[in-house]
Amino acid sequence: MTALKLSALSACGIAFLFSSCKDNSSGYTTWRVTGGSKMAQHYSSLTQIDSSNVNQLEVAWEYHSGDADTASHSQLQCSPIMVDGVVYGTTPKLRLFAVDAATGKQKWIFDPKGNANKFFWNFIMNNNRGVTYWEDGDDKRILYCAGSNIYELNAADGKPVATFGNDGKVDLHNDLGLDASKMYVTATSPGIIYKDLYIIGSRVNETADAAPGHIRAYDVRTGKLRWIFHTIPHPGEYGYDTWPDTAAYRHIGSANSWAGFSMDEKHGVLFAPTGSAVYDFYGGKRLGKDLFANCVLAIDAETGKLKWHYQVIHHDMWDKDLPTAPVLVTIKKDGKDIDAVAQPTKHGFIFVLDRETGKPLFPVKETPVPTSPALPGEQPWPTQPIPELPVPYARQTLTDKDINPYLPDSSKTEVLNRLKTYRYGNMFLPPGKQPSVILPGFDGGAEWGGPAYDPSTGIMYINANEMAWVMTITDTKTNAPGNETFIQAGQRLFTNNCMSCHGADRKGTGNNPSLINIQAKYKNNQIDTLLQTGRRMMPSFKQFTPQERQAIISFVANDQKLGAAKFIAPKQVHDPYLDIPYEMAGYNKFLSKEGYPAISPPYGTLNAVNLSTGKMVWRIPLGNYDKMNPDKANPTGTENYGGPAVTAGGVLFIGASQDGKMRAFNKRTGKLLWEYKLPAPGFATPAVYEANGREYLVIACGGGKLGTKSGDSYVAFALPK
Ligand code: HEC
Repeated sequence: MTALKLSALSACGIAFLFSSCKDNSSGYTTWRVTGGSKMAQHYSSLTQIDSSNVNQLEVAWEYHSGDADTASHSQLQCSPIMVDGVVYGTTPKLRLFAVDAATGKQKWIFDPKGNANKFFWNFIMNNNRGVTYWEDGDDKRILYCAGSNIYELNAADGKPVATFGNDGKVDLHNDLGLDASKMYVTATSPGIIYKDLYIIGSRVNETADAAPGHIRAYDVRTGKLRWIFHTIPHPGEYGYDTWPDTAAYRHIGSANSWAGFSMDEKHGVLFAPTGSAVYDFYGGKRLGKDLFANCVLAIDAETGKLKWHYQVIHHDMWDKDLPTAPVLVTIKKDGKDIDAVAQPTKHGFIFVLDRETGKPLFPVKETPVPTSPALPGEQPWPTQPIPELPVPYARQTLTDKDINPYLPDSSKTEVLNRLKTYRYGNMFLPPGKQPSVILPGFDGGAEWGGPAYDPSTGIMYINANEMAWVMTITDTKTNAPGNETFIQAGQRLFTNNCMSCHGADRKGTGNNPSLINIQAKYKNNQIDTLLQTGRRMMPSFKQFTPQERQAIISFVANDQKLGAAKFIAPKQVHDPYLDIPYEMAGYNKFLSKEGYPAISPPYGTLNAVNLSTGKMVWRIPLGNYDKMNPDKANPTGTENYGGPAVTAGGVLFIGASQDGKMRAFNKRTGKLLWEYKLPAPGFATPAVYEANGREYLVIACGGGKLGTKSGDSYVAFALPK
């Protein structure tokens, strides 16, 4: 067995030799928190696996949960944690498991389904990206979100902690300050612990009737709400005047923090990223800067009081949610160490902010952006913040020279002709009826996997997508009330509520499935259940009346019998804030008729950025579209989801690519050192830990995105014994 080169030099291990790592007394040798530590660095100071021996890695264990669901493209986005020799993670059906960290042998598994009807439960699934550990002496607990509930389990046996909330669970619909029972509320990213608080964000709808996206802190012992931070300020709160009128906060939702948190434990400060306010693509009902949408927030973890905020996009009209937890870093400036937070964005920037004040540490210029042609009623914000440094890590403009060279000539011509009908060339074109190119795309730039940061060198490693998407706005569909059949009403409701994801032709868009011939797959009552519960990235539509659901079903299931009846529109209280006159026509990628990207490669990259100088150290394509480009030595890069982990052993690990490989790169040069074909793509962030003197690397292999097959396993690698 290779000697364990765990440094005994200091609590900071090898890292100490190069730079300060004063904020972390645990020395980066553990992985008790998703992302390695609460600093969200994805960094391990273990050195047993290094750049010279990483090519000898072999599978140490593989854990199969047995509940992947190919038919519904189930996924595994969970980045597991390791505490005291036990790995905790979740399965495609959101069961939470504990396995031996050295052998992968299951100790227990918790099924949140309880007594729920099996079919019903199938539909409650959200994507889960991690679990949270808390301890006080011998009292050790695991918390995570499944459906709309926070569950708290005893870490030793997986039994719910009865004294927490309602028999071990807390419903996220509660404590929002309004009746949210019919709204969609769940959480994808794990909560974070501060003392005896469990702080959690949320995932909510992207439509006008979304739930509020407030950040909440619960008592770990009782499940009682201890504080709430209003991401859309209430009267008297800072930022309230950035909204158009006094009532807006009661009607406009979202601005939710879905991408996970980081924490400066020493100073008790929570760092939270937020998403856009709804409606995502039309801001006519929310004129103004819309604080605290699209912000990095520094919040007093004890009290929930705001310390500072920094808005990255003003009056977002492009769904530019901040997609990752802010990373706690230390940069060198004028010979001094400055504690900072680094926030990667979907549009390809890293904002480096002073941790104490929120002030940018590199110049950021409020840059004029196009404000016309804008939709009637819209008022685009005239400037957007553009950092001079660090350099962008994703392409941000497109010209007619950037057509995919792998396409046959006829296809290139077709793509070019289509491009001529679009607006393109600037990231901030106001949404409109003439299609506009979104690059970086709806899924970044950066995505929820988050970057890795090496505290010994100050280098951030960030994987990015370079996929162009096309946004088109259409009028919201209205029919004369009282004059519709069920099927016509269903089509209207579909256009206004489902089309943006499932497409006007119902053939699906992006990662959202086709609904063509859905009647062969589900009975009407099953679709009815799905509409009430949602499933993974599909939100729920509890606000619909049973009659409205039947109308939608008659349309999507092409049920002519049901559809022929006359539809009597429900009497509704008219809420002008929900009356959005425009709809986004679909999350459509800019593709050739063969289904290949219309633009030139790379489509996914891995970037090493020095956060002190702001310069790119290296940048390589990540993954390859083998079918389009058989020349594997010159990869095209692929779209990717999930992030990297970096180690003091000099290695950067990442799965994430569509081609389903786990890869190790030399962190200094970007040279590929090792790759391994996973049983299903690892759209998740790996964890690095040590058990019984052996260093392990583990990743969830759940596939299910980008047209890949679903998987049900966690694969752990180690050097041969
Ligand atoms: C935000 C995007 C989004 C919206 C809006 C949305 N869906 Fe979905 N829908 C999805 C996704 C993603 C899935 C796949 C769910 C999964 O992975 O389990 C899905 C799945 C489905 C399925 C099951 C498909 C299958 O093959 O299993 C049906 C039926 C469906 N949606 C109908 C609707 C209807 C009707 C509406 C409007 C009332 C709607 N959806 C709105 C994203 C969306």
